[in-house]
Amino acid sequence: MDKIVIEGRARLKGRVRIHGAKNAALLVQCAALLTDAPSRLRHVPKLSDIGTMSRLLEYLGCGVEGDRTIAIDPAGVAAGPLEAPYDLVKTMRASVTVMGPLLARYGRCRVSLPGGCAIGARPIDQHLKGLEALGAKITLRHGYVDLKARRLKGGSFVFDTVTVGGTQNVMMAAALARGTSRLENVAREPEVMELATVLVKMGARISGAGTSVIEIEGVDALEGFDHAVVPDRIEAGTMAVAAAITRGDVLLEDAPVDHMHATIAKLEEAGVTCQVERDGMRVIGPDEIKPIDVSTRPYPGFATDMQAQIMVLTLCAQGQSLITETIFENRFMHVPELNRMGGDITVQGNSAVVRGPCKLSGAEVMATDLRASASLVLAGLVAEGKTEIRRVYHLDRGYEAIEKRLRKLGANVRRVRGGKA
Ligand code: EPU
Repeated sequence: MDKIVIEGRARLKGRVRIHGAKNAALLVQCAALLTDAPSRLRHVPKLSDIGTMSRLLEYLGCGVEGDRTIAIDPAGVAAGPLEAPYDLVKTMRASVTVMGPLLARYGRCRVSLPGGCAIGARPIDQHLKGLEALGAKITLRHGYVDLKARRLKGGSFVFDTVTVGGTQNVMMAAALARGTSRLENVAREPEVMELATVLVKMGARISGAGTSVIEIEGVDALEGFDHAVVPDRIEAGTMAVAAAITRGDVLLEDAPVDHMHATIAKLEEAGVTCQVERDGMRVIGPDEIKPIDVSTRPYPGFATDMQAQIMVLTLCAQGQSLITETIFENRFMHVPELNRMGGDITVQGNSAVVRGPCKLSGAEVMATDLRASASLVLAGLVAEGKTEIRRVYHLDRGYEAIEKRLRKLGANVRRVRGGKA
């Protein structure tokens, strides 16, 4: 297995272009199942999760070609298995979002139940209740969900909890239902807006995406799309923290600043300079970082996907910070590893008290999930000496060639293939 090896303490300088957003691209890949016509997705990041979704589409009968630009031809899906098997769903939970499109377009599908994962239990009850409100008949057996509906009917549904994937799944299904649907307490994340934009390009009638109520007037058929994925707010936020903690000066080209207000607000509160420029956002790290309190919230609040990374910023701050995780119940797996590097973090329930400034020293550490891995890379950038990060496959799910990009900015980072130093 590969490792990432970092010699810390280099100051990052230069420009880096932000890739397309993983979580937006994955859902737009699913949307290609809503039509018989071919679609094209551009500005796609080269990530293992995107490859997993392409494999799922192929398994379902789609022709899938390319990586940076992906051409999807769903002509073969009608004759395919209409099933998301356990092996693919357990590799990547976003696989469950083929459920809405398959059910709406083909009247039935079978999807493996995902089960828990490293960051929490992550049930899909809201996806299922939302689809039921549109007339789906649901049976659970042998670890799979069977869904049937000759033609979905428009309906009203109020989500019990704000869920990004649940909103996206039900929104896609409602796009092909007969009649009007009203979804309340929906997620307002940019990835929901991005999916709505693509659905509208396909001929769907959707209003309200980006607010907490979405209305969808179902149509009989949708067309293919040609779409370039929006830049990744979480990749940009991660790079911004890298620049901030190394007292760097980095221009994040194409950073989607409009989607990053909560991250930018916390960086600025910590004393980091974030300057919006014509071609992106320039981030300048201060000599002294101030402590901050951060609580994760659904968008437009502070993203849970930035929690582990901002924790590294607080490790470098002059004083005590408090970080509260309200979205997932088990998203502090990075804390023991950061403490092994010299962090002083105490977890109490869903809060972590971070007592900065901590003098981090390089260590051998293990990644447990995608954003936890990113936090270990960030910690390695400021630690004294050598940090070796194992289980890099977590990082490869969401950050394209992160070592090359950090190296280009002056960091001393390399990937060691096959785990041999
Ligand atoms: N939830 C339920 N029932 C449901 C669905 C969700 O209780 O039916 C709960 C979850 O257990 C969680 C909360 O609602 O506690 C929010 O989960 P949500 O459904 O919003 O998450 P998701 O759609 O599964 C996406 C991203 C995650 C990101 C979350 C929250 C994708 C592919 N994944 O997951 O991204 O953390 O939204 O913003 O879009 C990552 O990129 O590292 C990542 C984990």
